[in-house]
Order: sequence, then C-alpha cells, then structure tokens
Amino acid sequence: AVYPVILTGGAGSRLWPMSREYFPKPLMPIVGDESLLQATARRLQGFPGSEPPVFVCNEEHRFLVAEQVQALDIRPAGIILEPEGRNTAPALTVAALFLAEQDPEAVMVVMPADHVIPDLEAFRRALADGVALAEQGHLVTFGIQPTRPETGYGYIQRGETLDGDGRFKVKRFVEKPDLDQAQGYLDAGDYYWNSGIFVMQASSWLEEIERFEPEIRQACERAIDSGRKDLDFCRVGKEEFINCPENSIDYAVMERTERAAVVPLESGWSDVGAWSAIWDIAECDDCGNATQGDVLAQDVKNSLIWSNDRFVAAIGLEDMVIVDTPDALLVAPRQRSQDVKQIVAELKKQD
Ligand code: GDD
Ligand code: MG
Repeated sequence: AVYPVILTGGAGSRLWPMSREYFPKPLMPIVGDESLLQATARRLQGFPGSEPPVFVCNEEHRFLVAEQVQALDIRPAGIILEPEGRNTAPALTVAALFLAEQDPEAVMVVMPADHVIPDLEAFRRALADGVALAEQGHLVTFGIQPTRPETGYGYIQRGETLDGDGRFKVKRFVEKPDLDQAQGYLDAGDYYWNSGIFVMQASSWLEEIERFEPEIRQACERAIDSGRKDLDFCRVGKEEFINCPENSIDYAVMERTERAAVVPLESGWSDVGAWSAIWDIAECDDCGNATQGDVLAQDVKNSLIWSNDRFVAAIGLEDMVIVDTPDALLVAPRQRSQDVKQIVAELKKQD
C-alpha cells in the first residue's frame, strides 16, 4: 500500500510574525481556511492503494497536528513525535521503520507539509508513474522545470530513459549548489529542481540509509525500539533520537545513491517560503490584493494585507506586505520578503 509521509519540522522564519516556533507555517491557514498541512494530508485521498498518512513532527506540535487532521475526518496511520529536529533523513528513517513493521512492502510518498500543488490531477498522474518505479526499487524524485538559478533547491540531471515516457534515471543530484553552478545547470537544459517530494519503498530507503549513513539507521532503530505509543502518537526515545547524527534526505542519500529516478512534475509547484510566495498563490481581488481579516484598502495594488483581529486600513500602496498580529506588525516591500528572516535572526540575538 501507499502511505503519505508528511514531514513538518521547520518554523518558517520568513513568514514572521505569523509563523512562530509555537505556531509554524504549515499549520497556518493560508488558502481559505485550510492550512498547508491539511492540504497536504488530503493530497492523496482517493489515490489508488493509498492509506492514511503518517506525520513526523515536533512533540510540541502534537495537538495542533492531531486537531487539524481530525478536522479532515482522517484517522492518521501514525503521528511520530520528535523531541527535537535532526533534519529530514532521521525523520524519514523513523517513519520508514514505523511503516515497515506494519507493512513490509509499504511505499512512502514523502511530502513536506509546506508545499502548494495547484493541479492535483497532474500531480496524481506523475505520482502513479512514481509509485510504479518505486515498486521496482527506485528512489523517485519529482523534477520541476527550473526558471531561475535558485540556490536553495536541489538540482537533478536526467539520465537515460526508464520504461515509459517521461521517466528517467538520475544522472546527478546536487543539493543547494552555489550561484555559478546553478546558472550552469539552468543553461545546460537537462536539469530539474528537486521538488522535495519523493516516492520509495520503506525498505529501499532503509537499505540506502544503512549503506550511506549507518549511524542514522542505528540511532533511529534505537529511538523507535525505545519509543512509546499512545493513541495515534508514537514518541521516539528522546536520548536515542537526540544522539542521532543530523542530515537531510538530499545530502545523506539522494546525492549518493545509484537507485534514483526522476519523474517531471507539471502540476505547478511552490515551496511556500516567504510572504511573496503566499501572495503568488493567494486569491487576489481585481487590484491584485490578497487580504485576510478586517482590512480596508483604498488605491492599493498588488499587496498582501493580513490582519489577525485588528482593523487595518491602507491607502495608496503598491507591492507591499502588511501582516498584523496581536504583538507584532510587519510592513515591507513585497520584493523584500526574503529579508524577514534577518529580523527573526536579530530578534533571536536579543532574546
Ligand atoms: N519532522 C521533521 N523533522 N521535518 C523536518 C525536519 C525535521 O527535523 N527538518 C525539516 N523538516 C521538514 C520541513 O518542515 C519541510 O517541510 C521539509 O521537511 C523540507 O525541509 P527544508 O528544511 O524546508 O528543506 P529545504 O527547503 O532546505 O530543501 C529541500 O526542499 C527543496 C524544495 O523545497 C530539499 O529537498 C531540496 O533539494 C529541495 O529542492
Ligand atoms: Mg523548504
């Protein structure tokens, strides 16, 4: 069977002041009333052979996650709780161990909880190809046609064609290259961005993590063996997990494995990292404004104005971001949304 494995760890500091450590970005309502986590949890509903999702999150967020999943009438296959994040490779390893125990042939659809995929039909077509390849032992990535030399993503060079159209072996995987390299890959024409969504058998992942990072596999095995289950929660052993080496899926395995495949994804895709990306995906009015809460905008264009509970009025603005919360207000040009993380870094220093 096919299990969504939904990873949610990062606090999303570029979405300050909405996103805080205690209320991270994937749990914020973004499009309508639904959070990114909820949209991700529903992404595979009705997909052939799919089971309810497994979540891997910080133990502090267990009730928020459980409530949001319950609100969808989904009974999760499990909510695995980390005492602290060790990055995505350990998170995926505990999920794989958890699933392999119940279903030795489990196929995992690994999805970060903070991505938006507008065209679900196109996603599911690509996913069906991905599942077929995963069942043959491949570690499947989904490639996005790159449009700029972004250095925050992984790059995937396609190799020889695998059975069927539009499925390839991965010739090379490079995680977060520098700007010159990224520009080179863009010019070369046979590279994709790594979407960060993967499909693989739990057993394939466990073999590869054992091969390249045996200490991660061993630490995660100890953490699961000493873990405690209660209701849908599975709390991994604290000491065991904290002592696990830190690494990402991409560096730990994807850059090194010979079993990687890539399926191009043409569903639209966005990694909702900053307010500008939220403006991109939000429903805008005729003036290009995305507003939430009690907002009055006059002569305002292409701006995002979000208010929690106060009334916010704006006059004569263009390309701005205004986010009001009870204890903090952000005002910035939309184009400078990325710089919000510097504010958060500054605030952390002052703490
Ligand atoms: N449970 C858990 N524990 N989840 C985690 C942890 C952790 O320790 N660390 C990160 N995550 C979650 C994040 O919340 C996010 O949803 C997802 O895993 C990916 O982690 P990021 O930290 O956002 O990775 P990235 O954006 O730098 O890079 C990855 O995604 C890019 C596309 O968005 C890589 O896979 C890149 O190759 C890819 O291009
Ligand atoms: Mg990310």
